[in-house]
Amino acid sequence: MTTTIPGEPWSTGVARTVDGAVEVAGVDVRELAVEHGTPAYVLDEADLRTRARGYRRAFEAAFAEIGAGVDVYYAGKAFLSVAVARWVHEEGLRVDTATGGELAVALRAGIPGADIGLHGNNKSDSEIARALDAGVGRIIVDSLVEIERVADAVAARGGDPAPVMVRVTTGVHAGGHEYISTAHEDQKFGLSIASPDGDPPAMQGLLAVLARPELRLLGIHSHIGSQILDPSGFEVAARAVLTLRAQLAERTGVLVDEVDLGGGYGIAYLPGEVTLDPDRIAKDVAASVQATATDLGTPLPRFSIEPGRAIVGPAGLTLYTVGTVKPVRIDDGTVRTYVSIDGGMSDNIRPALYGAAYHAEVVGRLATAGTVLARVVGKHCESGDIVVHEVQLPADVRAGDLLAVAATGAYGRSMASNYNHVPRPPVVAVTDGGSRVLVRRETEDDLLALDLG
Ligand code: LLP
Repeated sequence: MTTTIPGEPWSTGVARTVDGAVEVAGVDVRELAVEHGTPAYVLDEADLRTRARGYRRAFEAAFAEIGAGVDVYYAGKAFLSVAVARWVHEEGLRVDTATGGELAVALRAGIPGADIGLHGNNKSDSEIARALDAGVGRIIVDSLVEIERVADAVAARGGDPAPVMVRVTTGVHAGGHEYISTAHEDQKFGLSIASPDGDPPAMQGLLAVLARPELRLLGIHSHIGSQILDPSGFEVAARAVLTLRAQLAERTGVLVDEVDLGGGYGIAYLPGEVTLDPDRIAKDVAASVQATATDLGTPLPRFSIEPGRAIVGPAGLTLYTVGTVKPVRIDDGTVRTYVSIDGGMSDNIRPALYGAAYHAEVVGRLATAGTVLARVVGKHCESGDIVVHEVQLPADVRAGDLLAVAATGAYGRSMASNYNHVPRPPVVAVTDGGSRVLVRRETEDDLLALDLG
């Protein structure tokens, strides 16, 4: 049996034990399964913290070289819990939230409002009010209507002007999948910098913010997509945003202080893939924004970035127990072994939604047999309930085996559902040989409690 452990796409704390099973941060997965049950999301705390710190240090160092400051916001949509918000904050990151729910978690974690950003293309009045109550460091406005809404909310309550950034779309398409490439023009986010005639929506948005004394125009925001492995998209988008900033300054005399380049840094999901190196990308982006600023003749702003997946994705794995194993003869006569696990599309929707590829291994024992072509499927009532489309598993894979799927820390639990009334798995942190539950397993009683009969 070939194994990729230790190594990508597993977290750095994943290793083989002396008897051939697997441990995470010194905790044997068999112990984790007994103590917490399966399926379970397992988060390697040290790995997550190291990535958070790594991004902050890499960007701080590269941007210090060009004389610019930078803040790193952890994009909580990838996965947010009270403990994780605290960990990233302790590592010097701020927290980017996209809804009132994410904002509530960040506040529950004790993150100061000033270190929180609020996104969303359709913020409710209540979300805007809560952001203002919390004194968030920035509200990223997404439309002309919303600019008026936030300004009106401030006018009604009084107090300091709200710090806002205007989210713009630069036309840069990047990322692993159509649905996650958010800078297309024909999509719901932000205000476009392009216009066939007259002021583009982005310029209109900036002017609209400047026109309202209840708002303080902090800067311009651009997010170009997710799971990006080619850094050139960030550079092209940064050039477009800095150009817009210079145009605004020429027109109004206002040179905004900050530019946010969004998230999207890609990670390894499969053996042989390589996670984007923050040091390299930080240097590339810093060099490129410096060149652009020189061309434009404008001083550099303070920058920020919003990585989510790159911080939490590789730190997580999902632990399942194998139930049934079924050989299925496929068209060309080969046999595919269908391995059913005790979770599925309710705990990882990404394969079904995006065709995302994952890697799995048998982790509860030494696997000495040869391998078979396997497909890891869930327990839900549809044939698209696939967690791993194709993977070589030990030929003797059998009921009771523990199976781990790598790199599920981002957009796994955060996108989980209760399809088929399956309770969502817990999130278990492992740290220095010990484990603790960050988010407990849902129960059928939890689900029934919502059903008022
Ligand atoms: N900032 C903004 C404004 C965003 O919209 C996003 C992600 C991020 C930061 C973080 O991006 P990251 O660094 O995690 O790539 N559910 C999809 C990903 C959707 C990403 C949406 N926005 C998936 O599972 O691949």
